[in-house]
Amino acid sequence: MARVELINIQKSYGSVQAVKNANVVFEEGSFTTLLGPSGCGKTTILRMVSGLADPTNGDIVVGGKRINNVPIHKRNLGLVFQNYALFPHRTIGENIAFGLKYRGVSKSDAQEKVRHSLDIVRLPGVEDRYPQQLSGGQQQRIALARAIVIEPDVLLLDEPLSALDANLREDMRVELKAIQDRIGVTTIFVTHDQSEALAMSDKIVVMSAGVVEQIGAPDEVYNTPASEFVATFLGASNLLPATVAGRNETGVIMETPEFGKTCVPVARSITLGDAAKGQLMIRAENLHLTKASITKIDSANAVVEAVDYQGQLARYFVRIGNTQLQAINMISGRPFSAGDKVNVSLIPEECSALPANDT
Ligand SMILES: Nc1ncnc2c1ncn2[C@@H]1O[C@H](COP(=O)(O)OP(=O)(O)OP(=O)(O)O)[C@@H](O)[C@H]1O
Ligand SMILES: [Mg+2]
Repeated sequence: MARVELINIQKSYGSVQAVKNANVVFEEGSFTTLLGPSGCGKTTILRMVSGLADPTNGDIVVGGKRINNVPIHKRNLGLVFQNYALFPHRTIGENIAFGLKYRGVSKSDAQEKVRHSLDIVRLPGVEDRYPQQLSGGQQQRIALARAIVIEPDVLLLDEPLSALDANLREDMRVELKAIQDRIGVTTIFVTHDQSEALAMSDKIVVMSAGVVEQIGAPDEVYNTPASEFVATFLGASNLLPATVAGRNETGVIMETPEFGKTCVPVARSITLGDAAKGQLMIRAENLHLTKASITKIDSANAVVEAVDYQGQLARYFVRIGNTQLQAINMISGRPFSAGDKVNVSLIPEECSALPANDT
């Protein structure tokens, strides 16, 4: 396994800048997710690390060595793509052993390695079957076995779970994470699914339109997003236009017509001038509804406009003056109904300050 570094990496296709000046460190043995919407440059980064594409500018360093000019077959990488592309007319054993042939591994050693990799993905004994005799999830595990059998320095996974149905996908993400923990290989995982990223990653790299917007642990990018893009891409958020009314040691005081002055923590990467405009971010699950006519600090009276009942949870759309907010609350007892007068409260420590929306 190895540490991977992208240093000022840029990739252009004609006038399209697929990746703009990315600086990212993938720590040795860690599981890092590239997360972002379609077209933001995730696959392009994997292709550059794997050697399928050359960066326009910048350096790729693996295990302390610059590898820009190292050809693909000399980079010791395991790759799994979305459609997992097993050879249909070869057995599972032959599929997995494919990469070993080119590494001069003897037949008996190859057999042993194939057996071991099937143990790791928990599908022992299927060497002689053909891909179509396995389920989608099992085939996906074979693709993973094929990638890890060569004992790669780095494992590159491009939306490996996206072809699976929802239930299998959730099982496989637990399984995949467990496999990565067991073998401890440095892993770069690509997805546009935020819950997958939050559940699996040591670190998340959030990307938008070729730009790395934020790098951090899952709770860090979730709770202290560095930009409006990150705040809205991960989870359901309310963003209220606010004035920066001052600062103290714990954070910044954001003033809104709805909640008055709220002292909230600020993400390190954000600079907000005094008396500047900003936005108060409140996660939908951090707005709590109670019965009306309680007046307390950090709260406002509101009217429930719509209820999206989800069993244990309800998503409420509430109105405070001209502002509609959404709140996701656990239901204890009877849920609120449209038309109910409620009090909506927040906990300042759970909110964030963001720069103003310039658009
Ligand atoms: N070979 C290519 N030639 C021209 N443009 C390309 C090429 N490959 C990618 N692009 C462009 O670069 C940008 C980034 O593409 P990329 O495939 O990295 O996105 P992605 O984040 O993986 O998206 P998705 O989630 O849809 O897979 C897109 O605008 C895409 O159209
Ligand atoms: Mg892609």
